[in-house]
Amino acid sequence: MYDVEGKRILVTGASSGLGAALATGLAERGATVGLCARRADRLADVLAGVQVHAPESRSWTVDLSDLDGVDDFAARVVDELGGLDVLVNNAGIPKRRWAWDHRPDEIADVLRINLESPIRLTLALLDALGANSGQVVFIGSVAARLSPPCESVYAASKAGITAFAEGLTVDLRVAGSPVGVHVVQPGVLDTELFDLPDNERSLADIEALPASAIVDAVLGALQDKPIEVFVPEWFGDLPATKAGDLDGFLAGSVMYTRQRLEAESRPFPTRPEVAPS
Ligand SMILES: NC(=O)c1ccc[n+]([C@@H]2O[C@H](COP(=O)([O-])OP(=O)(O)OC[C@H]3O[C@@H](n4cnc5c(N)ncnc54)[C@H](OP(=O)(O)O)[C@@H]3O)[C@@H](O)[C@H]2O)c1
Repeated sequence: MYDVEGKRILVTGASSGLGAALATGLAERGATVGLCARRADRLADVLAGVQVHAPESRSWTVDLSDLDGVDDFAARVVDELGGLDVLVNNAGIPKRRWAWDHRPDEIADVLRINLESPIRLTLALLDALGANSGQVVFIGSVAARLSPPCESVYAASKAGITAFAEGLTVDLRVAGSPVGVHVVQPGVLDTELFDLPDNERSLADIEALPASAIVDAVLGALQDKPIEVFVPEWFGDLPATKAGDLDGFLAGSVMYTRQRLEAESRPFPTRPEVAPS
């Protein structure tokens, strides 16, 4: 397993869920962790637990969707941690919404925090990471690869960050950079993401893994250096199935979704021009 002892690691979105579990798990293994998010109280609670293991760890209350502030934030992190070895771009928001129901403002919000912000933060930290032969991890989602129902804009944001990670990898390797890039694609892990207001109820019907499952997934990516890692691993078989028969895969997704709605006695979505039956 990747040895994090003495490494300086920034985890974005560390006030809850996967980011909090990751910050704690990395600190327990000897890393100095930088945490950031918007909710100062929740961040302080997580930091207190992290500092039991890694007293030099620290946190910043920051809204990463403020793109104009990203460069200054990145410079502050490098300055206050004394350098950076690993960046984990974890902060993100869900949007479970039938495609045509997305409001313009929420499309912009999802793309800003899930796609633009991690791109900007990564680029701002690239020199610092390069100085330490560092690595970048993007927390994507299986939605990036599997076109789930009722998540089209969210899936687009995660597919976008996955494409960026792939393109960044190529560019870095062409340039001979030592910086490594990974995308960890979670399936269903038990976090507040599924309870946030202003979202349709999740249609997923698989058992959620504990949030702590993200720790081994990230450490595995850092150790073994694959570009893409799925949590749980079996999700990794599905993109090839989809690519082999895209029409069949999407038809299966429609059937599955209709069955899930029926099983839960939920109404089928209606487009405005389709009269409800
Ligand atoms: N849980 C899953 O099954 C699952 C599956 C696939 C992908 N993911 C991805 O995993 C990542 C973490 O999600 P989670 O499940 O742990 O949900 P979560 O508990 O809601 O955590 C999201 C984190 O992102 C932070 N965040 C959101 N907007 C932010 C902003 N504008 N600026 C700074 N921080 C912000 C939140 O902190 P504040 O609200 O305090 O700012 C929080 O710490 C997300 O990228 C999500 O898309 C999760």
